[in-house]
Amino acid sequence: FNKDNFKTQLIDWFKKEQRILPWRENQDPYRVWVSEIMLQQTRVDTVIPYFNHFLSKFPTPEALAEAEEQEVLKAWEGLGYYSRARNLQNAVREVVEQYGGKVPDNPEELGKLKGVGPYTKGAILSIAYDTPEPAVDGNVMRVLSRILHIEDDIAKQSTRKLFEDLVRELISEEDPSSFNQGLMELGAMICTPKTPSCMLCPVQSECRAFDEGVETELPIKSSK
Ligand code: ADE
Repeated sequence: FNKDNFKTQLIDWFKKEQRILPWRENQDPYRVWVSEIMLQQTRVDTVIPYFNHFLSKFPTPEALAEAEEQEVLKAWEGLGYYSRARNLQNAVREVVEQYGGKVPDNPEELGKLKGVGPYTKGAILSIAYDTPEPAVDGNVMRVLSRILHIEDDIAKQSTRKLFEDLVRELISEEDPSSFNQGLMELGAMICTPKTPSCMLCPVQSECRAFDEGVETELPIKSSK
């Protein structure tokens, strides 16, 4: 496994082939935050119009902090999992009150905010602040379990930690944003669950599962 090849091929591919998505227009940490919360349980195609509407109604942390909860829930209507919206507004109010409206740029303060778990924290730090922190979700675990042929059960809590440690070793210090988003994008576009498009994959030459012909058998996930 050639780590430098992997990084370079992944980042070059992401820069060339990434989908144009509204939350990729700039690195505003508030926009990144809203998008990642919406994307947690909802598909990209569904999220796009909600994201645009939400940002036009609540363009800044201050605007969201001042809004009535009912207004926020109304803008969330149809996305489901309404606790996401309530937690987001509470956390944004905290950011306005405690940090003058600036989303924290360090793991300690970010991780204390309501609804900001390890994944969201890593996504904000890497995408908005160019900090080399892992952002590991199910897609990223699928991609890396195949690349490195890892058979640990991704349903176990401890396995996410293992993948976070791996990303810490692999991540580009120069462009952590493109590295993490490249992993997400690869999982969405190429390294899909049932029929991955290995013939189009920019990191095929570094993929152990492809080499061994076992890509559809990974990741391993117990149904508990
Ligand atoms: N899924 C989770 N985060 C994403 C992002 N930033 N872009 C596209 N899909 C995603």
